[in-house]
Amino acid sequence: MRTSLRLAAPLVAGAMLLAGCSSTSTPAASSSAAGGVTLVKAGTLTVCTNPPYEPFEYTDASGKVVGFDIDLTNEVAKDLGVTLTTVVSPFESIQSGVALDTNTCDIVASGITITPEREAKIDFSDPYFNADQGLLVKAGSSLKTAADLVGKKVAVQQATTGETWAKDHNLDAVQFEDLGLQVQALQTGQVDAVINDVAVLGPFVKQGYSMNANFSTGEKYGLGVKKGNTALLDAVNKTLARVQSDGTYTTLYTKNIGTAPSAS
Ligand code: ARG
Repeated sequence: MRTSLRLAAPLVAGAMLLAGCSSTSTPAASSSAAGGVTLVKAGTLTVCTNPPYEPFEYTDASGKVVGFDIDLTNEVAKDLGVTLTTVVSPFESIQSGVALDTNTCDIVASGITITPEREAKIDFSDPYFNADQGLLVKAGSSLKTAADLVGKKVAVQQATTGETWAKDHNLDAVQFEDLGLQVQALQTGQVDAVINDVAVLGPFVKQGYSMNANFSTGEKYGLGVKKGNTALLDAVNKTLARVQSDGTYTTLYTKNIGTAPSAS
């Protein structure tokens, strides 16, 4: 008993110093939302995202950014008792951790695949979506396999896992800043094919394009917070668990993705 008291004393003193000598506060920074979470802008959860990336983030007719990622982060905001603000950002700054490190946003939600390289720079939530890479071509194209793409021009989105996939297969990868520009390049004939996540290529099939392959990569999406922001990370994981158990995840998935989530 005595030993533990003696060990605890310096910790208490340190806590009092950091908290401005108030004996009741903890050394944590001032909180502006439920659960001791500190936000870059009080009263709102700010999310960085990179549209166009339907059905995860895209602009609706009224100019609002909507989609599955937005609906999910809105659930986090609701549980924190705050509103949600979206900030459109380059995917490069989202996946590199820069958007979070510069306090541009509290959270990144952008169909981001959890990878070991990114885990070194971002703290990821539990996974919320399974993804693979897909191959989009003009209807009638016979390109189907990675081998077919050798010597062809392949549009990739900068700093994505699709770019990595194309480079790993020694393809002539032409880099674009977003998915919209990739598809535009396919339309104008600047490239022969587009590589990006399967779920976002689906919507283009109705527009005269064809999805000729699904390359199984076994990717998983996570929501990201600044490294070390455990208060927010815990809140995000709590919300993800809550929406799984109360049916909200299934409702939002079905609304945005168009099918019910598979049981796995
Ligand atoms: N899942 C891929 C990755 O993490 C692509 C994500 C691109 N997301 C976006 N909103 N543009 O690299």
